[in-house]
Amino acid sequence: MAIVRFENISKHFGNVVAVDSVTYETEDGEFLTLLGPSGCGKTTTLRMVAGFYYPTHGRLFFDDKDVTYVVPEARNTGMVFQNYALFPHMTVFENIAYGLQARRMQKAVIQKKVADAMELVQMTGYERRKVHELSGGQQQRVALARAVVIQPDILLLDEPLSNLDAKLRKTTSEELRRLQKQLGITTIYVTHDQEEAFSVSDRVIVMNAGAVHQIDTPVNTFNSPKDVFVAEFLGHSNLFPGKIVETDGESIIVETEALAGRVRAAKTRQRPEWKWHVGETVHVMIHTNQLKISSEPKPENTTTGILRFKMFNGLNWNLEFQVGDGTCRAIVPNEFTSDYADLSIGDELTLCYPYEEVYLIKGKESSRDAS
Ligand SMILES: Nc1ncnc2c1ncn2[C@@H]1O[C@H](COP(=O)(O)OP(=O)(O)OP(=O)(O)O)[C@@H](O)[C@H]1O
Ligand SMILES: [Mg+2]
Repeated sequence: MAIVRFENISKHFGNVVAVDSVTYETEDGEFLTLLGPSGCGKTTTLRMVAGFYYPTHGRLFFDDKDVTYVVPEARNTGMVFQNYALFPHMTVFENIAYGLQARRMQKAVIQKKVADAMELVQMTGYERRKVHELSGGQQQRVALARAVVIQPDILLLDEPLSNLDAKLRKTTSEELRRLQKQLGITTIYVTHDQEEAFSVSDRVIVMNAGAVHQIDTPVNTFNSPKDVFVAEFLGHSNLFPGKIVETDGESIIVETEALAGRVRAAKTRQRPEWKWHVGETVHVMIHTNQLKISSEPKPENTTTGILRFKMFNGLNWNLEFQVGDGTCRAIVPNEFTSDYADLSIGDELTLCYPYEEVYLIKGKESSRDAS
C-alpha cells in the first residue's frame, strides 16, 4: 500500500510532450483511473510509475520516498501492459509464478498463490498451456493474475479488460474492484471506456494532450465537468455557448442563440467555487436524458425543435433535433403509452429542460482563475 505522488512531472519524447507538468496524488488504497483519448499520455504515466520511463522533469514519490530514478525491480509495482507482455515461451503457470520465484518463495506457497490468482481470473485448468495457445482475452487474464499474485504495493493496469467479451469484462471488473478493496492495493487504471471507469473507480482523472483536466469522483466528473473538453469527452450532453444576462440570489440567466432564447439555471446545481457575472461567456450543458418532449410549452427553459433523426434501441429512443442555430440530442425512455414511433422526421416539437438540471461551464480563462 502506498500513496503515489506526481510533482510537476513531464515526459518528453523528442518534440512530443507526452505528459505535461502534472501534479496530483493518489490516496492510500485508492482506485484511480486515467481516462482520456488515444495519445493523451495514459500509458506514459503508468510506465513512469513502474519505472520503465524516467520523467524529463519533476519528481515521483511513493509515500515520502523519492522514487523518480529507482529501477523497476525495486518498486514493488505490479503492471498489466496494454499488449500483455507475457513470456511467450513459458506456460500460464510459469508466467504467473515468475514474480514469486524471483522473490524466492517456497514451492508450496507459489502453488497456492498461483492457483488462487488463476481462480480469480477464471483460468483454472489452463496451467500447462503455452501463451501462444491462448486467445487475446485469456492472455489478458493471465497478465492480470501475474500482476496481482505478487501482492504489489501499487497495481498499474493499462486497459486490462479491452479484449474480453462484454460479460466477462463486467464480471472481471467487479472482481477486480472487490479484490482491490479487499487487498487495499493502490491502483492506477487506464481505460478509454468511461462506463468501466465510473463503475470501478474511487476517482477519475480526465486527461488530454498530456495535461490533467479534472480529478474527481465519477459522479462529480459526470455531473459537473470542469471544462468543455471534459464535457465533450464524456458525451451524453448538449453544449450551447451563451452569455450571462442576469443573476439573482437563486438563478443565473443565460442568453443563447443555439437554443433561440433564455435559459434559467439554478445556482445550487453549479460548482460551488464558481462565481457568476453578467456579460460572462459560458456553456450551457444539458444532459441528453434531461431534455423532455412536452405537450404544452412552459414559460421558461423551453424551445422548439425540428426532429432530424430518431432511433429505437429497446429501452430508449435516441432523438436529434434542430433548435435555434444548433442541434441537440435527447434520450427519452421508451414507454408503452408514448407515441415516439409515430413521430416523423421534420415534425416540430416542444422541448423542455428542468431549471435544476441546467449546468453551466465557465469559459476557459475563468475556469483556470477559479480552480
Ligand atoms: N517511446 C515513445 N517515443 C516517442 N513518442 C512516444 C513514445 N511513447 C509514447 N509516445 C507519444 O507520446 C504520446 C502519449 O502516448 P501514450 O502511449 O502515453 O498515450 P495513451 O494515452 O496511452 O494512448 P492509447 O490510449 O492510444 O494507448 C503520444 O503522442 C505518443 O505518440
Ligand atoms: Mg496507452
